[in-house]
Amino acid sequence: MATKKTTKKDVISDYNGYDYKKIFWEDADRKYEDAADRMAIKRLLPKHMESFVDIAGGYGRLANEYLPRADKATLFDYSKTELAQAKEMYGDKIHTKQGDIYNLPFKDGEFTSLMMIRATHHFKDMDKVLKELYRVLRPGGIAVIEVANKKTLPRMVRYWTGKTKISPFDRSVANLADVDKDGFYNYHPKYIEDLFKKTGFKIDKVLSVSNFRSAGLKKVFGTKNLIRMEKGAQKILAPIRFAPSIYYRLEKPGDK
Ligand SMILES: C[S@@+](CC[C@H](N)C(=O)[O-])C[C@H]1O[C@@H](n2cnc3c(N)ncnc32)[C@H](O)[C@@H]1O
Repeated sequence: MATKKTTKKDVISDYNGYDYKKIFWEDADRKYEDAADRMAIKRLLPKHMESFVDIAGGYGRLANEYLPRADKATLFDYSKTELAQAKEMYGDKIHTKQGDIYNLPFKDGEFTSLMMIRATHHFKDMDKVLKELYRVLRPGGIAVIEVANKKTLPRMVRYWTGKTKISPFDRSVANLADVDKDGFYNYHPKYIEDLFKKTGFKIDKVLSVSNFRSAGLKKVFGTKNLIRMEKGAQKILAPIRFAPSIYYRLEKPGDK
């Protein structure tokens, strides 16, 4: 995966030529994380969707969760490599569209629902991203958005023990320079929730997701037990915005 800049502000994490499916999901031990994402999506996506788009949906990892609920499903991503993989797997069941999130190639109000999972960490300008998501959603429509949380317990420990200077309590956007100078951003829940409201969204539901994302916990408890624990934790821990992934179900106010 490479990074390139379109304008001074917009950075694209380019997954073209990078086998995200194999390298990130299949070759690594991420069954727990995958199950946690699916659990949250099942809970938050509307049961029936007229027109749906998976924004920055990659190769359609989560397509099995939305295809049965959507009359028409579109997968949008920057990476042609990933969209081609999705076409191979799902054929005519899924429409694919390539482009850049900062200028979505869709009409105003084109979709009744959308989701965007594991993508916010690539976006420096969430203000612009949210305006685009709001624009393509129909009034009364639902957006399910996963946000990379800056304020997690491991980050607090790292901060208190002096291992990082990035304060998880500071509301500004964190660019995790120690990971990738131009590509990984984390958001404070209060910052992002204020931005949702400023954009015009109403926050409908919140879940704390991937609460036990830790190699150590996987070793001690095993993936199956962590998935069982995750089931209860997603709702119980939501009020303290505990996990590395916070899921939001947002509504664009207005009549359908
Ligand atoms: C970590 S992957 C997540 C994929 C999928 N949502 C999932 O959960 O499996 C992030 C995705 O964001 C896409 N992406 C990054 N920058 C983008 C941009 N500016 N416009 C559109 N997609 C972008 C990448 O191509 C990649 O597929």
